[in-house]
Amino acid sequence: MLRFGILSTAKIGRTTVAPAIQDAENCVVSAIASRDLSRARDMADRFSVPHAFGSYEEMLASDVIDAVYIPLPSSQHVDWTIKAAQAGKHVLCEKPIALKAEDIERLIAARDANKVLICEAFMIAYAPVWKKVRELLADGAIGTLKHVQGAFTYFNRDAENMRNIPELGGGGLPDIGVYLAMASRMATGTEPLRIQATTERDPEFGTDIYSSVKADFGSFDFSFYVATQMANRQVMVFHGTEGFIEVKSPFNADRWGAEEIELTNQKHDVSQIFRFQDSRQYKRQAEAFAGAAQGEKAEVVTLENSLLNQRFIDAIYRASEKGGWEAV
Ligand SMILES: NC(=O)c1ccc[n+]([C@@H]2O[C@H](COP(=O)([O-])OP(=O)(O)OC[C@H]3O[C@@H](n4cnc5c(N)ncnc54)[C@H](OP(=O)(O)O)[C@@H]3O)[C@@H](O)[C@H]2O)c1
Repeated sequence: MLRFGILSTAKIGRTTVAPAIQDAENCVVSAIASRDLSRARDMADRFSVPHAFGSYEEMLASDVIDAVYIPLPSSQHVDWTIKAAQAGKHVLCEKPIALKAEDIERLIAARDANKVLICEAFMIAYAPVWKKVRELLADGAIGTLKHVQGAFTYFNRDAENMRNIPELGGGGLPDIGVYLAMASRMATGTEPLRIQATTERDPEFGTDIYSSVKADFGSFDFSFYVATQMANRQVMVFHGTEGFIEVKSPFNADRWGAEEIELTNQKHDVSQIFRFQDSRQYKRQAEAFAGAAQGEKAEVVTLENSLLNQRFIDAIYRASEKGGWEAV
């Protein structure tokens, strides 16, 4: 059993990741740390966790954990990941693990110097629905891929929410744009070459609230938008010479509706729906990470993969500032 400590009482930890770790076969939550000991105790009691700490530093220095899960505000991910690695703990850190590609290079150096595992918590990388999309594309189920479309939007104008506070790493691209970047790369096994983008910022918050992006992947294009002040929507469509694949609720099917892939192949007269129920992507993530940390051959999101993903996001910001095509 890999023993996790959770750094903070963040909502995603409370509602989703702590239960998933407790549910997993090869890991367990052994400690919770909060800036406020009583909050740590409350959460520890709720999940029958034996240890609670009133500071993150104390938990990192303790020997009751082997690994940390970090769901802090995004601007704090890099510093706390490095501190945890220096304390000899493996790290599963929430997305976006960094806000700039050069910081991921620092994380790679920290990982190698301290001989620990560091992974960004991209739960979609462990979802059966995405494994199926990869297989369908690789098997030529839609012929040759020509175009990918994507959207991920929600409405949140809460001035207290991390997503609307620049100092905490707010913004639509770091919060949800990263999923579209990861999903397109992961499904196709291809990297973007150049980007065109427009980005709109909230006049009050200063965070990016809408981005419309066109990415040239060489053999296909990917156009998508992300928004934090539009009605909820999640979709990805892969369109090829013979047909198309629509992925419904591609990122949070647990909260956003049915997890389904619809495959249409006009050449072979195929129309098929693949349904995935209870796919437990967070539990699979915890198990893969714990396996890899314990030396098993488990596929995880490597920092090298995260670095390429962040270069995609960095290029979107550059393209939207300069106009025209921007090389990734
Ligand atoms: N993978 C996913 O599905 C998913 C979903 C949602 C969010 N996320 C990611 O998870 C991270 C946390 O998101 P969240 O919405 O769960 O966060 P949240 O509820 O706002 O919690 C963040 C936690 O960080 C701690 N913290 C330390 N310094 C802080 C500061 N200056 N301001 C506010 N909180 C501070 C607080 O814990 P203590 O007071 O206990 O120390 C707080 O509870 C983000 O990076 C986000 O992108 C991932």
